[in-house]
Amino acid sequence: MKKILTAGAFMTAFFASSAALAACETDVKKDDITAEQATELYECIKEKMREGYGSADAPFSKEYQAWKVTATAPAAPGAHGKRFLITYANETAHGEYVKFSEERADNPMPVGSILAKESFGVTKKGAVKAGPLFVMEKVAKGSADEFGNWVYSAVQPKGKVMKIKQGFCHGCHAAFEDQDALGYPVEEVRLKP
Ligand code: HEC
Repeated sequence: MKKILTAGAFMTAFFASSAALAACETDVKKDDITAEQATELYECIKEKMREGYGSADAPFSKEYQAWKVTATAPAAPGAHGKRFLITYANETAHGEYVKFSEERADNPMPVGSILAKESFGVTKKGAVKAGPLFVMEKVAKGSADEFGNWVYSAVQPKGKVMKIKQGFCHGCHAAFEDQDALGYPVEEVRLKP
C-alpha cells in the first residue's frame, strides 16, 4: 500500500529529520564545546556509532551497550587522540570504578572488571565523527603481570578489530600506578555517588 503523508505530517517528518542532522554538527570550536553540547552531539551519533562497534567480532563490543555509564557527559581530556570520551563499566567494575579512588595500590579492581570507552571527534568543519571503542579487562594475577593484569583491546568505528600492542596502551596507562592503571574521566563529569 502506498503511504501518503498529509502536508502536516510531511512537514513534521521533514523538520524532525533535519533537526537531527543539524545536531550532528556544531559551529562551536572544539575547545569551547560545553558538557551539554557534547551530550547533544553524542546523542546524535550514539545509535549509529553503537551499530558500528556492535558489528565487530570482538569481545564486549555489543555487551557493553547494556552497562552503566560512569560519567555525566562525554569530555575531551586530551588523551586518546583528543577525542570526546565516555566510559561504561560492567557490573563487576561499576561500583568500584565510580569511587575514582587514587589509592588502589593495595586495592586493585576486581578480576572480571571490564571498562569500555566510546570515543568521537569533532572535525575542523564541525562535523561529529565516531572514533574507536577502547576496552580493558582485568584478568587474574599472573595472567598479564607485565600490564598490570589488564588486557587491552579496541575496535574501529565500523567494527574492524584494531591490531594493538598491549605495551602501547599500558605504556601510557601504567603512569596511573596508584589508580590500578586507570585514567578516570575528568573530574567535572565524574558520576557523583
Ligand atoms: C597517551 C596515553 C594513553 C594511551 C596510549 C592509551 N590510553 Fe586509555 N586512557 C588514557 C587516559 C588519560 C584515560 C582517562 C581519560 C578519560 O577517560 O577521560 C584513559 C582511559 C581509558 C579507558 C577507560 C578506563 C580508565 O582508564 O579510566 C579505557 C578502557 C582505555 N583508556 C583503553 C585504552 C586502550 C585499549 C588503549 C590502547 C589502544 C589505550 N587506552 C591507550 C590514556 C591513554
